[in-house]
Amino acid sequence: MFAAWYEKNGAAADVMKTGELPDPGPQAGEVRVRLHASAVNPSDVKARAGSRPIRWPRLIPNSDGAGVIDRVGAGVTTHRVGDRVWTFNGQWERPFGTSAQYIVLPATLVVALPQSLSWEQGACLGIPVMTAHRCLFAEGPVAGLNVLVTGGAGVVGHYAIQLAKWAGAAHVIATVSSPEKAAHARAAGADAVINYRSENVVERVRTVCGGVDRIVDVDFGKNLPLSKEIIRPFGAISCYASMSVREPAFPYNDLLRLNVTVRPVFVYTMSDAAKLAAQADIARWLQQSKPIFAIAQRFPLGDVIDAHLAVERGAKIGHVVLDID
Ligand SMILES: NC(=O)c1ccc[n+]([C@@H]2O[C@H](COP(=O)([O-])OP(=O)(O)OC[C@H]3O[C@@H](n4cnc5c(N)ncnc54)[C@H](OP(=O)(O)O)[C@@H]3O)[C@@H](O)[C@H]2O)c1
Repeated sequence: MFAAWYEKNGAAADVMKTGELPDPGPQAGEVRVRLHASAVNPSDVKARAGSRPIRWPRLIPNSDGAGVIDRVGAGVTTHRVGDRVWTFNGQWERPFGTSAQYIVLPATLVVALPQSLSWEQGACLGIPVMTAHRCLFAEGPVAGLNVLVTGGAGVVGHYAIQLAKWAGAAHVIATVSSPEKAAHARAAGADAVINYRSENVVERVRTVCGGVDRIVDVDFGKNLPLSKEIIRPFGAISCYASMSVREPAFPYNDLLRLNVTVRPVFVYTMSDAAKLAAQADIARWLQQSKPIFAIAQRFPLGDVIDAHLAVERGAKIGHVVLDID
């Protein structure tokens, strides 16, 4: 099969190679997917650079993908040859991810892909949508609640807005850093958009809805001084990244008085129950709404280095996807 891989951590141009590798075959409990698209997430790029030191002789990057099951291992009763699927956790604790024509995965990491979605859209569902789902719903339904999505034009944030609206949140507020990002967040359904660089976020949130019950947060440490001012009693801050301030001082007394829950979310290792709940809700959301997939850039698999660099630069709005056909 044609594939991209690396054998040591480092800069994309220094370590990534493309070429032919042996076709994998499924063992018992596994399926083989003929991949048509692979998404590049920040985590894939950070892993290649060294956040996850390589533990195998060779690693095929990227966790998320979409394609068709073309072989089924013994004992698999949930999937059949010919099923359209999206995949997740393809390169978590496993050496061979989705930057290849084939991936072999436990059947539990492979989910039915509706006919209405393209391969590229299917490849977007893993890390971003499952993370957004967990952040929003880990503390229960959000119907009638006020939700703040920080970084509402980010890949995860964009889905958090859409899922919150689908689930009946009363107010969905997003923070962004530019007019272009504001338009993007509004198009996803945000009721109010705040430029966190030029506006007073606390004042604006108080004006729009008084306070919020859930915060889906892309930069926990940096936003904490704001979050503690606008979170309502019994609210929850779900944080999936804290890149600006890695080890923030925790305002214990402020959050204590409000009985606030702080929930770090790490998509790869969330519980099996949370993964199944996310898959079920994502299927319903896809069926019941008109989901928006923002695909910023597409590259052929052979240009995997450029795809990783595009994610590394971070200037894009939306996904970077590899076309494997
Ligand atoms: N824990 C998990 O399981 C998990 C899952 C998925 C992603 N992540 C991590 O989450 C981060 C974002 O991923 P992504 O794919 O959504 O990336 P992305 O598409 O680049 O989005 C990040 C967004 O956050 C905005 N932002 C950054 N700092 C902000 C702040 N202080 N307040 C408000 N907005 C802010 C950025 O825009 P501006 O800089 O223009 O504001 C950008 O729009 C990455 O570090 C990724 O590794 C973690």
